[in-house]
Amino acid sequence: MSESLEERCYQTLRDNTIEAAGEHIYTAPDKTYYGHQWLWDSALAVHAWSIKHPERAAREISSLLKRGQWNDGMVPNTVINDSETDAFLWNSKRVSDAPRAWATSGITQPPLLAQATWETAKQLPDDERQAFLDDTLWRVAYYHDWLYRTRDFSDDGLVSVVHPYETGMDNNPALAEHMAQIDWRVPNVAIRALRRTVAMVRQDTKRFPAEERATLDATTYATLATLRMRHTGYNPARLANEPFRVQDVHFNSILARNNDILAEMADEAHAPLSDFLLDKFRQTRDNFELLWDDKEQMYFSRDDVTGDLLRTPTIASLMPLYAGDLPAGHEAALLQHLQDPESFGAPVGIPSTPLNSPQYRHPGYWDGSTWPFTNYLLTDGLARAGYTDLTASLDRTFLESVDTHGSREYFSPETGRGYGTSNFSPTASLALIALQRQTS
Ligand code: GLC
Repeated sequence: MSESLEERCYQTLRDNTIEAAGEHIYTAPDKTYYGHQWLWDSALAVHAWSIKHPERAAREISSLLKRGQWNDGMVPNTVINDSETDAFLWNSKRVSDAPRAWATSGITQPPLLAQATWETAKQLPDDERQAFLDDTLWRVAYYHDWLYRTRDFSDDGLVSVVHPYETGMDNNPALAEHMAQIDWRVPNVAIRALRRTVAMVRQDTKRFPAEERATLDATTYATLATLRMRHTGYNPARLANEPFRVQDVHFNSILARNNDILAEMADEAHAPLSDFLLDKFRQTRDNFELLWDDKEQMYFSRDDVTGDLLRTPTIASLMPLYAGDLPAGHEAALLQHLQDPESFGAPVGIPSTPLNSPQYRHPGYWDGSTWPFTNYLLTDGLARAGYTDLTASLDRTFLESVDTHGSREYFSPETGRGYGTSNFSPTASLALIALQRQTS
């Protein structure tokens, strides 16, 4: 089974490969539906490519940074490929810091670039490795610098997302619920009108059944966030006054781990990081426990405006397992939630929302389904912490689903059946990483 599954997964990555302007290359999530270069999709593809084709991986990460990174350091969630609608929606070229040659979005996505860079560097031959790090490391460090310079609104080392899509989990119920409750300083009638417009123009529910996509409410508030950001010209000082600012636990877990990797790479490459960054890295770790809730025995995202925790459990609550370095009791509590059959311990993979939550939908989108991104992060963290049996069993059920249903976008945590697009690079990437883990 494994050999042909491996070949099929590489084929998916090859099918979705797009070359841009000669020198650039990337793996689109699914050429037929998502043609842009997406930050965390690309990071996963880079990790998968690095296993056997590290030069290909190096070219992809370099393309993302060289095409997409803004002058102020921001790395957008998408470098737009051929879509006038998306280019119009984000209108990045109006912003002086944005790239001139490519349209991009104006928001970022989970900061997984240090890990992708490191996986690649480790696989490159010695003579290419230093040159790759020299070219890439400062760009990734500059991105982390941007996150702390512009998104650490409370100056406590926990950065905020200002758009739900920055978490990569579009309709994560904790954030979706919060968005429906806050005061957007917009008349209700305008929100109702926007909801009607979104219902008419959204494309995903024309291609897939509505119960397999984000709810209309979640998509409406996400669109509202887009319109407001666009209106501020993505200006950090103005974003600091926006009503939606969340210290997302998933985003900060990824940041904490990628800070560690960045520091390790900088040591190895003899390229010291600034004191500002090193201080911020420490602050993120020191203040991480502000996101812990003793009553529920898990971590939650925190409203940066009021300081309140958003106590709706989602897979984001488990993500500190990827960050690692947790107080022992907190790690044990998360492992218990992860394995509880009534909660996250589903038959197939780790559901994006626990099975016993009132918010859980089947198959749902980020409010139900098992996704490759989050399963990648959690298995990575579990393997690093030495939970080999648990990692192996999560890898096995994931691989069985991919083998049976193909590289689908997301899966039912109850049956393993696949949904969404059908040649999805992040799924193929995680399968290749899991296959590699099985043999090492
Ligand atoms: C969806 C997912 C997001 C992903 C993108 C491209 O928007 O929610 O996480 O990056 O598709 O695959």
